[in-house]
Amino acid sequence: MNGKFVTIEGCDGVGKSTQVRLLKERFEREGIAAVFTREPGGTVIAEKIRKIILENEAEKMDAMTELFLYEASRRQHTARIIEPALEAGKLVICDRYVDSTLAYQGYGRGLDIETIKRLNAVACGKTKIDLTLFLDVTSKEGFKRKGGASGGDRLESESAAFYERVYAGFSSIADEEKRVVRVDASGTKTQTHEKLYASLKQRGYI
Ligand code: TYD
Repeated sequence: MNGKFVTIEGCDGVGKSTQVRLLKERFEREGIAAVFTREPGGTVIAEKIRKIILENEAEKMDAMTELFLYEASRRQHTARIIEPALEAGKLVICDRYVDSTLAYQGYGRGLDIETIKRLNAVACGKTKIDLTLFLDVTSKEGFKRKGGASGGDRLESESAAFYERVYAGFSSIADEEKRVVRVDASGTKTQTHEKLYASLKQRGYI
């Protein structure tokens, strides 16, 4: 595949959505072509799966059911959006991907890491990540920024301990995988934005 595949990862509350938006706006201003997409979601079917995952239902969702839904959404998204774009030589920037599943369902919920790695590989198929930008802010800091765990969707109401495990998960993935770059996101929005932009520029992706 000719394109470049970049994923952006981090705990809830790190300002990831804002950073993805800032990058998108800057690319538009500077005429840089890229496909921006997100998980869970990115296609009509994947967005429907996203709704099922994130809605607060009276019925408790089994952790393995949740894992299959993320992987189903990922497969659809990868086959329909990511693969064709990479084959066409485009730069693809994806808000969350396989590392979120390892961090949330694996480290957070305690599902078997090897099982998740196998399912991730099935959902990705031939798609390989070139670079992962990990917005590195501890779960405690992220929690403070978004004003605690009250309200929000089903995942936003998880406990502080859950998010500590998720952060530890992302952190060990960053240590293990060469493709992951830690981006210190504890400063201002603009500072973090400049760091992300520079990481892409430095590698010749933009
Ligand atoms: P998202 O909408 O990206 O939240 P935010 O904008 O706050 O980053 O993601 C929704 C939630 O889905 C988020 O809490 C992380 C979770 N998630 C998983 O648990 N596993 C996964 O595989 C993915 C892609 C997301």
